Amino acid sequence: MYDEMDYPAPGRVERRAVAGPESARAGRLWWDGAADAYQAEHGDFLRDVGFIWSPEGVDEADARLLGDVSGKRILEVGCGAGQCGRWLRAEGVREVVGFDLALRQLQHSRRIDEQSGHRLPAVQADAQRMPFATGSFDVVFSAFGAFPFVPAAETALAEAGRVLRPGGRFVFSVTHPIRWCFPDDPSKRGMTVKQSYFDRRAYVEEDDAGRAVYVEHHHTVGDWLRGIVAAGLLLQDLVEPEWPEGNKQVWGGWGPVRGRMIPGTAIFSAVKPG
Ligand SMILES: C[S@@+](CC[C@H](N)C(=O)[O-])C[C@H]1O[C@@H](n2cnc3c(N)ncnc32)[C@H](O)[C@@H]1O
Repeated sequence: MYDEMDYPAPGRVERRAVAGPESARAGRLWWDGAADAYQAEHGDFLRDVGFIWSPEGVDEADARLLGDVSGKRILEVGCGAGQCGRWLRAEGVREVVGFDLALRQLQHSRRIDEQSGHRLPAVQADAQRMPFATGSFDVVFSAFGAFPFVPAAETALAEAGRVLRPGGRFVFSVTHPIRWCFPDDPSKRGMTVKQSYFDRRAYVEEDDAGRAVYVEHHHTVGDWLRGIVAAGLLLQDLVEPEWPEGNKQVWGGWGPVRGRMIPGTAIFSAVKPG
């Protein structure tokens, strides 16, 4: 069970530029404060040992966006409570590591490790500076972790490209950029354009002292594409999942009513030439 009241209280909304350190500080504090409510609200849908790419319910068990993972060294960026990486471990992939900005999310990961018997090694770190050696992973992936929360898409994408070995694969899901134009409302009211797609100022909630306490950044499709190319990667696919018939759940601005008309998620798939 969860209650809206268990999430951090919303701050005063601003639209402004937010640099890397301020963004990471806000993200860490917000996710530390939200982790208990987030896991209580979404844990059943994510499953303790399950790999869900997005609120549409794209499941790696069916989609196989990572390709053949047997024998691969894999990194999960912004792993939260580690459900995806743990699923890979349960599939028999021995070398999977996760990292996340928020300690409380990692504590949930450890709790689920103990309950499920499938352990995901995980560390606390920022996607803007990944603490891993160059070329050390065959696969890097992220399911809505970190990338929607970084101010400079090219910085985090360059880090993902750096830690990937030549020939490796990188797949990540984010809020579909078109959603930036619309209110965070999954009903028909959320289908009217309210702001410019081209406005890159971040959505910021601030405390009374003007410090950011929650930040979401916007990168257009072109921004993501240019960041992928600048990271030395080749884009292979951009998956825009349609809302499936059987999925009735509402997750923030995602839900069946709007999801049938407007894409909510973008899943980018790229490879590093080798
Ligand atoms: C929506 S959750 C996604 C995690 C998981 N796949 C899930 O579905 O719950 C986003 C995660 O990204 C993490 N995160 C946000 N900014 C980050 C950053 N700069 N570096 C690493 N992790 C970050 C948050 O702490 C949070 O656990």
